[in-house]
Amino acid sequence: MLMQTDAPRAPADPVARRRTFAIISHPDAGKTTLTEKLLLFGGAIQLAGEVKAKRNRVSTRSDWMGIEKERGISVVTSVMTFEYGDCVFNLLDTPGHEDFSEDTYRTLTAVDSAVMVIDAAKGIEARTRKLFEVCRLRDIPIVTFVNKLDRESRDPFDLLDEIEKTLALDVAPVTWPIGRGRSFAGTYDLLRRRVRRLDAADDAGTVPVSGLDDPLFDTLLPEAGDAATWREEAELAEGGCKPFDLEAFREGHLTPVFFGSALRNFGVRDLIDGLAEVAPPPRGQDADIRAVSPTEPKMTGFVFKIQANMDPNHRDRIAFMRVCSGKLSRGMKARLVRTGKPISLSAPQFFFAQDRAIADEAYAGDVVGIPNHGTLRIGDTLTEGEELVFRGVPSFAPEILRRIKLTDAMKAKKLREALQQMAEEGVVQLFLPQDGSGAIVGVVGALQLDVLKERLQAEYGLPIDYEPTRFTICRWIEAEDQAELDKFIGSHGSSMASDLDGAPVFMATTGFSLRYEEERAPAIRFTDVKDYQ
Ligand code: G4P
Repeated sequence: MLMQTDAPRAPADPVARRRTFAIISHPDAGKTTLTEKLLLFGGAIQLAGEVKAKRNRVSTRSDWMGIEKERGISVVTSVMTFEYGDCVFNLLDTPGHEDFSEDTYRTLTAVDSAVMVIDAAKGIEARTRKLFEVCRLRDIPIVTFVNKLDRESRDPFDLLDEIEKTLALDVAPVTWPIGRGRSFAGTYDLLRRRVRRLDAADDAGTVPVSGLDDPLFDTLLPEAGDAATWREEAELAEGGCKPFDLEAFREGHLTPVFFGSALRNFGVRDLIDGLAEVAPPPRGQDADIRAVSPTEPKMTGFVFKIQANMDPNHRDRIAFMRVCSGKLSRGMKARLVRTGKPISLSAPQFFFAQDRAIADEAYAGDVVGIPNHGTLRIGDTLTEGEELVFRGVPSFAPEILRRIKLTDAMKAKKLREALQQMAEEGVVQLFLPQDGSGAIVGVVGALQLDVLKERLQAEYGLPIDYEPTRFTICRWIEAEDQAELDKFIGSHGSSMASDLDGAPVFMATTGFSLRYEEERAPAIRFTDVKDYQ
């Protein structure tokens, strides 16, 4: 086996063969290119360039939003399912733009592992680091792909050192680059002593070598002295780096590292083989009353993403649900725990690179789209009847607050409904001030405001503008003693609002005034992250 591990491989077992993962990276490191190449391996797309084409073509699935087309950014999160070898992969895409980071964080609650893509010339960049921290909080194992070795790159040891130091993560190189930039000739598999040549006809073939002394390296690195220097480095990588350790990886302490070039479709097969072999199958999930194991027979799942209007011809709304246990069968009735009402799963869907198809059955680790007309919200739990709620789909205190200015006052009711919908989809957060003044919307990134404005106009015919509010910060408040909470709310009427769930929110004009209130009311907990309910 590639990494000489005893990772569970049971092709017949639908749970053991699932791999649900996301790619985390800084913009431009090569996430889109790598996604496309992974899908090619999975046979999900025929032609290179198809994922990228979403930016230009109207007909593809994920460019429904004008704003995405205009700015050439991927705003929406989506999921792509493909099979490769014995495994079913669910690749959850995350928005590249940091203004949509909330979406990304929520998506990371639904994966079991992540691929961290690093640009070989740039190393660890700001956004990679931030996303890594989110993965670490959830102990998500990370596989590293160092990309763009076909360009001038930094020294591989330097890169490994940076991963180790800045992320406090042990590194175990699985492959080692032979040359870099113009002299990049392939990779050497440190565990199996095989060479993958860049000039091979396809990415499939590897050549066995006797060891680092093999004359093949002199052919691949013909410049004087290059092969000798490389041998010294590779020897150091072989002997000096930590060996791959499955347990340390699964616990999130160690990352296997692959080198390659997504653009040249090089090293991608090693990466996908590595994921099949060592990335964890679906994990157990914590619910409020107990932990749920993926192998339990009854179906459970939670909604981490709502996406509207994926297809402009059909005004649909899709809730993305991660199945946590049991088997989801088409046509089954599930219980929506928040309302206690049944919901019929008559047309659950799987998503592929450009298509979707009805999912007849889905298992733990799978992500299915459930079409609905507003019944489902982010954070919802579905079960076969059990009264349990999955925790941990987060909502973050917004950093920008704006009051909505409606140009046509006759449409106030329609606006209220539309805002409620948008808030349920997670586009913005909605706060209704206790004093009855106009609704306030909150976002983490400014671009979300543009998306809201555009969608209100396009979907509801509501032209709006934004007005500043005197508030700049908001915090959810809680207290052990309900009387204390009521007292605080009562005495801060003009600074109180309620969120979508009716939870109390304190709004402050400055950081100073927030700290002042925090000091004066020690019985109250002010929080900037809340679980969806
Ligand atoms: P992102 O989704 O992480 O933002 O990155 P994306 O895949 O869009 O890649 C960013 C740029 O880097 C693209 O070039 C892409 O072609 C290039 N790239 C990705 N992988 C490699 C690689 O392995 N080697 C090299 N040399 N380049 C790579 P662009 O010029 O911005 O876009 P395009 O004009 O090529 O489409």
